[in-house]
Amino acid sequence: MTAAPRKSRKRPSSSPLEAIVHALGDRGDGLARPASGGERLFYVAGALPGERVRLRPQGRKGDGEIAELEAVIEASAERVDPPCPHAALCGGCDLQHLDPPALADWKRDKVVRALAHRGLGTVTVDQTLSLPAGTRRRLSVGLRGRARHGVCGFFARESHRLIDTPHCLLPTPPLAALMEHLRRALPGFLAPAAEGTALMTETETGIDLRLDLPTAPELTGREALAALAEDADLARLTLTIAGGSEEPVALRRAPKLTLGGTPVLPPPGPFLQPSVDGERALTDLVLAAFEDLPAGAVIADLFCGLGTFALPLAARGFKLRGWDIESSAIGALGATAPARAGKVQATTRDLFRRPLVAEELAGWSGVVLDPPRAGAKAQVEALAAAGPGPLGAPVRPSILGIVGGAPAAAATGPSVIVLVSCAPASFARDARALVDGGYRIDWVRPVDQFTWSHHVEVVARFSRG
Ligand SMILES: C[S@@+](CC[C@H](N)C(=O)[O-])C[C@H]1O[C@@H](n2cnc3c(N)ncnc32)[C@H](O)[C@@H]1O
Repeated sequence: MTAAPRKSRKRPSSSPLEAIVHALGDRGDGLARPASGGERLFYVAGALPGERVRLRPQGRKGDGEIAELEAVIEASAERVDPPCPHAALCGGCDLQHLDPPALADWKRDKVVRALAHRGLGTVTVDQTLSLPAGTRRRLSVGLRGRARHGVCGFFARESHRLIDTPHCLLPTPPLAALMEHLRRALPGFLAPAAEGTALMTETETGIDLRLDLPTAPELTGREALAALAEDADLARLTLTIAGGSEEPVALRRAPKLTLGGTPVLPPPGPFLQPSVDGERALTDLVLAAFEDLPAGAVIADLFCGLGTFALPLAARGFKLRGWDIESSAIGALGATAPARAGKVQATTRDLFRRPLVAEELAGWSGVVLDPPRAGAKAQVEALAAAGPGPLGAPVRPSILGIVGGAPAAAATGPSVIVLVSCAPASFARDARALVDGGYRIDWVRPVDQFTWSHHVEVVARFSRG
């Protein structure tokens, strides 16, 4: 979860009215129609399907109207008391008021509906694998300066107003403690009303903190930052100004992560799975998907980041090739022991603009793709065009030496593809392209590691149909 602002289109509110909620929208708000009948559609944060509510319309939102929930007149059996004291105001979590099993079902349904929209409604989607709260080892929070104690938290619902969330239930205890340090330290380096963000990552050697501030701090501000690094016992503190380039402020210990048993020294910015539990759940599914492949088979990890999947797969005896647009992540992966031993090759490449083409795919037994929310349209179309090769297709060792090169033989796609996605709509589009290219969907597993949010991730295995 990030502290990205929600768009506010509030107008002076109109008279309240009663409405019946008939579904949850994609962002977790209740979709309601007037109890008295009529076609008006309301988006009501905090309302659940089946409920009769009193709401107050606030203004247009897309094809309907945004409305504030004033009262729940008849509550759903699935309504629970939100566990977090900030839930009523904070926009960080959308669905704390929904019973966890119902939330898991709703997230699964999102995947089912997205697949059905692409003509894949008969595909079996497994139950959601739900992970516990309080485990976020990576979190982006908003900061605002104040004369005493700054604000450190998230935007309020449907608003750009940052609110303090001292009792937030999402972070691990060390990250929660750092948020408290930040509140105390903020007046030293962020002027009153000025806003910034903090990207916090808990590593094995301490917290790696990257601050983005609107203007460069003066000497006293820099002293306050150095003091923060000491007081909070940070491993590293890095600064960016208005999203510019990174400037090291303090390096007290090199931040270290272990992926697939391999130590990795992560740079401050690149993607990392938000929780260790989530990383393990996704990795276990990816490893299980490839267990039929013979040791020594070549697997490509596309959108590989720091090697979350590449390194555990290499530890299983596969030969890995990884690609990602983020050169600092590729640098970190390329510096690991398996990469130095030639078991993992890591290459920087923009896979949206320059997807790997059929000739480059030849000889690979497996591919795992974990793209950003937009999905991997161009890359998946290239895989679909190559078509699925036989299970355990023989590997020609010569291609391991080629980076972005083209083996001469006719193209044959991988026998197993694993798609990891954080957006059901683009996942379903990409799944459709693979099915049209001759792949069969073996299984689909939703994973919920963004507890209480409307987000859901999916892991799916495709093989020769
Ligand atoms: C959801 S993350 C997955 C990273 C990695 N698989 C992991 O689990 O840690 C998506 C990755 O896609 C990369 N990415 C984004 N746009 C890209 C592009 N156009 N070409 C290649 N990689 C891209 C990002 O740098 C990021 O590492």
